[in-house]
Amino acid sequence: MTAHPTTPPTVPSHRFDALTAAHMRAGGSWKWSTPGSWRRGEREGLIGAFVAEMDYPVADVVADAVRTSADGSRFGYLPDDWVADMAAATSAFWGERLGWAPDPARVRPVPDVLTAFTATVRHFTRPGSAIVLPTPAYMPFLTVPAMLGRELVQVPMARDGGDGSGRFVLDLDAIDRAFADGAGLLVLTNPHNPTGRVFDVDELAAVTEVVERHGGRVFSDEIHAPLTFDAHRHRPYAATSGAAAAHTVTATSASKAWNTPGLKCGQVILSNDADAAHWEATGYLAEHGTATPGVLATTSAYRDARGWLHDVLAYLDGNRALLASADLPGLDVTVPEGTYLAWLDGRGLGLDEPPSAFFVREAGVVMTDGAACGEAGRGGMRLNLAMSRPVLTEALERIGAALS
Ligand SMILES: Cc1ncc(COP(=O)(O)O)c(C=O)c1O
Repeated sequence: MTAHPTTPPTVPSHRFDALTAAHMRAGGSWKWSTPGSWRRGEREGLIGAFVAEMDYPVADVVADAVRTSADGSRFGYLPDDWVADMAAATSAFWGERLGWAPDPARVRPVPDVLTAFTATVRHFTRPGSAIVLPTPAYMPFLTVPAMLGRELVQVPMARDGGDGSGRFVLDLDAIDRAFADGAGLLVLTNPHNPTGRVFDVDELAAVTEVVERHGGRVFSDEIHAPLTFDAHRHRPYAATSGAAAAHTVTATSASKAWNTPGLKCGQVILSNDADAAHWEATGYLAEHGTATPGVLATTSAYRDARGWLHDVLAYLDGNRALLASADLPGLDVTVPEGTYLAWLDGRGLGLDEPPSAFFVREAGVVMTDGAACGEAGRGGMRLNLAMSRPVLTEALERIGAALS
């Protein structure tokens, strides 16, 4: 899975290198104010590497869109033509970047992907049917189904290298059994948080076969779609076949790739006539929370901030290389194919506490505890790589020092 070169990569300097930990703490983000049970005095030295946001300042055009919203008092309800503009920009970006330009009329605004998820469960699944979730998973998918009165079936992902090594892959037999037992919806996160997998077309075709066998549905969470590396290309699931288009509700947002989760604008993409009609009848509440400045900023991001994204991807790629070269004895490190989240398996350390707690105490690095990602994540950690390279270097050195 992960090669560990002996020499660190040489990477050219970049303006993001100047983003120090002190600078980030002063900025007031959740990532750097590190909520939780840590005592106040300890916070000063902590490096926030948990929640999935980037430390990088947003693209100028995105900031301009918010400023223009304020200058023009564009804080009213959403006009249809701004929604249409955002949908057209989403479709154009997806078409050029991901090879599928959905019909803009079927790209609908929602505040965020979680709202899209709750609307999908409520309106697009058999009442009371269980939800199938490959794990480890994005944490709220573990808890939100119960809030909607739904049973959750956790399906641990497998490794394709045998003996617990290799890429994380979907356990299709277990997903098949869950549908056979009456589940109605599969949550497919691709690119996958927290393992960083970008599923290939064959893997996606195999998912379609299983779902079709049982008349199931898919919620395809593609929020990390633009964030892929090397030869890994994101394939929109609904575009892989007519069958996939017929059973899928896709959700995405510019908020991961352009770092705007607080602007509250995501997109639901409908990929068949029946779903488009059903969304029109049921989607009002989900759409209602979408923020007007967020829609304008999202349009700018998809349309005018591709250069910024390109630059960020190159920088993140350097951070991936840094992780791959880090000396972290005893940790099984998965460098992501997509997303800026790395999975560190600490089960081999033989600790009598969650490794994430150990590294907060011994290294001052706050990662997401794997157990929050499901039973299969216990003993693992999710490390957010989207910081300045000097800060990431320090975080990795501190983790390495704690290990030795
Ligand atoms: C895979 C995945 N889905 C959904 C979300 C949440 O997105 P939103 O803030 O749009 O609800 C995240 C946030 O990190 C995520 O990583």
